[in-house]
Amino acid sequence: MRDLNTDREVLSGGQRELEEAYAHLRKVHSQMLQQDKMASIGQLAAGVAHEINNPVGFIMSNLNSLQRYSCRIMEFLDAQSAAVSELMHGEKGQRGEIAKKIERLRQDAKIDFIMEDMSKLIKESLEGAERVKNIVLDLKGFSRSEESELKPNDINAGIESTINIVWNELKYKAALKRHYGDIPLTRCNLGQLNQVFMNLLMNAVQAIKDNGEITVRTWADGGNIYIAVSDTGCGIPEQNLGRIFDPFFTTKEVGSGTGLGLSMSYDIIKEHKGDIKVESRMGEGSTFTVRLPITS
Ligand SMILES: Nc1ncnc2c1ncn2[C@@H]1O[C@H](COP(=O)(O)OP(=O)(O)O)[C@@H](O)[C@H]1O
Ligand SMILES: [Mg+2]
Repeated sequence: MRDLNTDREVLSGGQRELEEAYAHLRKVHSQMLQQDKMASIGQLAAGVAHEINNPVGFIMSNLNSLQRYSCRIMEFLDAQSAAVSELMHGEKGQRGEIAKKIERLRQDAKIDFIMEDMSKLIKESLEGAERVKNIVLDLKGFSRSEESELKPNDINAGIESTINIVWNELKYKAALKRHYGDIPLTRCNLGQLNQVFMNLLMNAVQAIKDNGEITVRTWADGGNIYIAVSDTGCGIPEQNLGRIFDPFFTTKEVGSGTGLGLSMSYDIIKEHKGDIKVESRMGEGSTFTVRLPITS
C-alpha cells in the first residue's frame, strides 16, 4: 500500500518549487519588459532630442538677434529723447533741422526693418516653443503609463501624440497616411496603449527598407474601436506568423530588436479585453489590427 502522506509531502514540495520557479519567471519577465521599454525609449530619445534641438536652436538664435535689436532700439530712443529735449529747449528755427536729424537716426539704426523683423522672430520663436511644449506633453503621455486608473480617453489623440514622438524615425523612410474615424472616448490606460501604437509604428518603419508607406486607420462599430497600422514593408513569412507575439521572437539584429514589443503589446491589449491580429503578404506588407471593446 502506498503511503499517501509521503506522496502528499513530495507533491507539495514539488509544487512549492514550481511556484517559486513561476514567481521567478514572472519577475524576470517583468524585468525584460522593462528592459525592452528602456531600449525603445533609448532609441527614441535620440529622435526626440533632435526634434527638440531644432526649435531650441532657432529660438536661441532669434533671442540673440532680438537682444541686438533691443540694444539698437534703446540707442535710438536715447538719441530721440535727446533730440526731443533739444526741440523743447532749443530755438524755433532749428526745429526742422532736428526733425531731419531724428529721421536720419531712425534710418541709420534701420528701425523700420528691425520692427518688422522683430515681430517675425517673435512669432517664429513662439511657434518653436509651442513645438517643444507639445513634444514634452507627448512624452508625458508615455510616462503616465504606470497609472492603473482607467479614464475615458481619445484613442485618435493618443495615436497622434505617439506619431509625434516617433516622427523622427518615420519621416525619412515612409509617407504617413492617417484616416481617423469618428470614434467615442473609451476607458483605457492611454499611456500603455500609446506604447502599443509605438511598437506597431516602429515595427512598420523597420519593415520598410526605404521609401514606403504607413497607414493608420481607426474606426468603430457597435461595441468596439479598431486601430489598424499597415505598412508596405517586407512582410512576415507564413512560418513566423504564429511566433511573432512570443516573447523574445525577433528576426532583427542583436541590438536593434529585443523581440518583446509585440508580446508586450499583446499583454496590454489583453488587459484591455481586446485582441490584436495580423495579416501579411511577403514582399507587399503587413497590417496589424487592434480591437478594443468600448467601455464608458
Ligand atoms: N510590420 C512588420 N513587418 C514585418 N515583420 C514584422 C512587423 N512587425 C513585427 N514583425 C516581425 O515580428 C518580430 C517581433 O516583433 P517585436 O515583438 O516587435 O520585436 P522586435 O521588433 O524587437 O523584433 C520582428 O522581429 C519581425 O520579424
Ligand atoms: Mg518591435
